[in-house]
Amino acid sequence: MDTTYLKKFYKKKHDDKINALFLADVISKQEKDVLLNRTLELDSDTANHMIENYVGNYSMPLGVAMNYIIDQEELVVPMAIEEPSVIAASSFAAKIIGSAGGFKTTVTGRMMIGQLTLKAVPNLEVAEQKIKEAKKDILSRANEAHPSIVKRGGGAKNLEVRILTDDTNNNIPTYLSVHVHISTQEAMGANIVNTMMESIAPYLEELTQGKALLRILTNYATECLATSTCVIPAHKLKTGEFSGEEVRDRIIEATQIATIDPYRAVTHNKGIMNGVDAVVLASGNDWRAIEAGVHAYASRSGQYRSLTSWTKNDAGDLVGELTLPLPVGTVGGSISIHPGAKLAHSIMGHPNAPKLERIIVSVGLAQNFAAVRALVTEGIQKGHMGLHARSLAISAGAKGDHIQQVADILKHSKHKNLQRAKNILLNILEEFEK
Ligand code: MEV
Repeated sequence: MDTTYLKKFYKKKHDDKINALFLADVISKQEKDVLLNRTLELDSDTANHMIENYVGNYSMPLGVAMNYIIDQEELVVPMAIEEPSVIAASSFAAKIIGSAGGFKTTVTGRMMIGQLTLKAVPNLEVAEQKIKEAKKDILSRANEAHPSIVKRGGGAKNLEVRILTDDTNNNIPTYLSVHVHISTQEAMGANIVNTMMESIAPYLEELTQGKALLRILTNYATECLATSTCVIPAHKLKTGEFSGEEVRDRIIEATQIATIDPYRAVTHNKGIMNGVDAVVLASGNDWRAIEAGVHAYASRSGQYRSLTSWTKNDAGDLVGELTLPLPVGTVGGSISIHPGAKLAHSIMGHPNAPKLERIIVSVGLAQNFAAVRALVTEGIQKGHMGLHARSLAISAGAKGDHIQQVADILKHSKHKNLQRAKNILLNILEEFEK
């Protein structure tokens, strides 16, 4: 990638942006033509086969975040999102973090977890023991149900048993929950996991004398974690009347509030998910699965808390860290069908699944940094209103160059609402016709 073509990317006109991505070697000639011809569309025939009762496509803007340096590699990150200012904030945060050495990441095992719950087990302890003794047998039966993933080096690798006690009913031990840890390689692997869990159910019923109730993957992917960290020297944080040290300390305090107060933690984490979801969606992955798992992970201590930590090191630098369960894939589902998802993978240089996790968790950390930094300094509305003004201009009916003209006047108006945008547009059009 040649980033010289990507300088001041946000200032370029739409077609020039696409051309710059081509010149920088981020997209191919064919992808450039698709974007220039505005033909990045899911065709209705394919879509009709993807879901039931299909009636049309629901579009979402696809943009690119700039300035990312992740594990010393420069990357352009595709984001599908309707909310103004997320991509601008992402690129801004990545620029500051990039100038301080970028993001450093790690990923753990990449194991999905299949869960089988058994009810009416006559003796839970005895059943637990029997399952543990039959571990090898259970894993090989699971693997027989999906030989192709085993051939690719994946498959069922480990097993855990949990007795579930009913805390709504005097903590009575009630169900047996069997977890199978399954390597699904490049896939998110829901189908692989579910097939395996269904296949071992009769054997587990026989072993435990219980009845299998649920046989499904859990989205609480605690065996598939990705972590991103960054270190930002305080002097890089200086803004307006705030010194770098003040901004650093305010970010640390704001994160402390999100650690102790669920009301703030939810909003704080929503800011993280602005970035995470946008890349998960662009890459054709199941963002509901990621959302569900991430919020459960935020509650792992028993209270819902901030997912990021911001602290300072001995040198006085701001140190950020984010860990997320990220069971994303690079094959399967809509990834190889949806033209937007295919383009997104190409923009990122066709990462494998662990690398995609590294990218997503870094975007989450950057997004949180941008949001909290703005909140504790100039406030969020300044940045938001600029882009919001453009949305209002479009809603008022402005087209082409008039969108920016209306937005510019609106930004300096006392009342920034739709009616004001309509009046401004009317004035511009009248001027135009004179
Ligand atoms: C808005 O989409 C996200 C923020 O509310 C996140 C935050 O408060 O940290 C700005």
